[in-house]
Amino acid sequence: MEKILVLDFGGQYNQLIARRVRDHHVYAQILPYTTPIETIRDNHYKGIIFTGGPNSVYDMSSPHYAKEILDLGIPVLGICYGCQLIAWMADGEVKTAPKSEYGKIEFTADKNSPLFKGVDKTSIVWMSHTDYISRPPQGFKISGHTDDCPCAAMENREKKIYAVQFHPEVTHSQFGSQILYNFLYEVCCCSGDWVMDNFIDQTVSKLREQIGDKKVILGLSGGVDSSVAAALLAKAVGRQLTCVFVDQGLMRKDEGDFVEKNFTSLFDMNFLRINCGSLFLEKLRGVVDPEQKRKIIGTEFFNVFWNEIRKQEKLGYFAQGTIYPDCIESGKGDADVIKTHHNRVKIPDDVEFLGVIEPLCDLFKDEVRKVGEMLGIPKELVWRQPFPGPGLGVRIIGEITADKIKVLQEADWVLRDEMAKNGYAEHLSQFFCVLPCVKTVGVMGDHRTYDHLVAIRAVTTDDFMTADWAKIPYDILAKVSNRITNEVEHVNRVVYDITSKPPGTVEWE
Ligand code: XMP
Repeated sequence: MEKILVLDFGGQYNQLIARRVRDHHVYAQILPYTTPIETIRDNHYKGIIFTGGPNSVYDMSSPHYAKEILDLGIPVLGICYGCQLIAWMADGEVKTAPKSEYGKIEFTADKNSPLFKGVDKTSIVWMSHTDYISRPPQGFKISGHTDDCPCAAMENREKKIYAVQFHPEVTHSQFGSQILYNFLYEVCCCSGDWVMDNFIDQTVSKLREQIGDKKVILGLSGGVDSSVAAALLAKAVGRQLTCVFVDQGLMRKDEGDFVEKNFTSLFDMNFLRINCGSLFLEKLRGVVDPEQKRKIIGTEFFNVFWNEIRKQEKLGYFAQGTIYPDCIESGKGDADVIKTHHNRVKIPDDVEFLGVIEPLCDLFKDEVRKVGEMLGIPKELVWRQPFPGPGLGVRIIGEITADKIKVLQEADWVLRDEMAKNGYAEHLSQFFCVLPCVKTVGVMGDHRTYDHLVAIRAVTTDDFMTADWAKIPYDILAKVSNRITNEVEHVNRVVYDITSKPPGTVEWE
């Protein structure tokens, strides 16, 4: 399989670059700038992309790379900091620009450049730089400029080294996608073999070979990643796979049954569901502190899960739905490369597997979803919105009881049903109900009521680091409120959370 290396110099868009490359059906791998040149040479990349970064190349503490990388005979594309780095490495000159450029800027391209094939002579690009190339290196020709940046693109066609000061990977760059396409197909001569059909076939045969006749255990949460991993493994080894599904009683209405029904009917595998709602309620009795609740739910979840595993005979492999962003080594920071393995589960010392299998560790989330759809997993699971590990436990403020879970499940179900009916769900990144455990006075018929208040939370966001409260049309909110107060027992008031993140978080606890 052909591969493009995205060499990470600490830029915020490194994952986006890799995803854009993959959108053009070429596999992209992100490695930090500390990767040895021998590794790069031995990996036979079709091309290398230097990412942006927040630093100045002439600051010697900034991330640099050995000049020899430009002589490997592998095509290179430098982006932003990566562009300046190429100039600096090849003995050009980089200085603080008399005028920084930020945002959408008009760019004029040299139409003869292979990088700008099919790109208009003038177009809008996304810029974010305070340094600029004041003199391109010998052998390089300027291939694009803006009003304030005389060298906004340069190239050494003979050595197949290209550089752009702007960010082609962001959608604000009008022809950004075309420029990346040109680098991949006009410069690197890729053929485009990264397609999901190939991925499924190759992964299934790799899994069969690796697993042989041994058993595999996977912890299934009902989330997208573990569901797709389960489907791939089921396709590869069928009943050698056991999925362990811990239902702690804090899922949305009927969700446990939905997961079980789907997996047992769609795939030939062993499905082990552990219903332990009452155990969790017992452990959570009287606990009101959010952090303590989270801790108890997390600890108990793994206690139940590993105790079940300990009962299994002859453990084979342990599978996880870890995806690519969980495995990328960031190029940020200097000597120490930080590994971010957020979603990897720690295996207790007394549990011995033959090894760990992560069939999705090369995929981004959108690719995981594509694979899921191709494997026949229902849309409701593949496009499921994020659901916190502690489940409804962080959406019931204060002590958790069976009655409160029931009220919240019912209210949340009405919200979901209404959003699905009017098609508004696809405009939202996440939406749910919260039970603040506040009682207020109301009136129903001729009677005074004193019952629960339910809050609706709905947000739009790209990455969940920041989020906007969603501007759901009033008529939809009115319908939801009306239905919740009519259909859900013990709710007499509905409020809408109009707090963005920051200062609020998406979840209430
Ligand atoms: P916050 O509340 O931090 O949520 O703004 C951001 C996103 O993360 C989800 N979330 C969690 N997901 N385990 C998870 O797997 C958790 O403990 C957890 N807490 C929050 C939240 O639903 C939102 O999508």
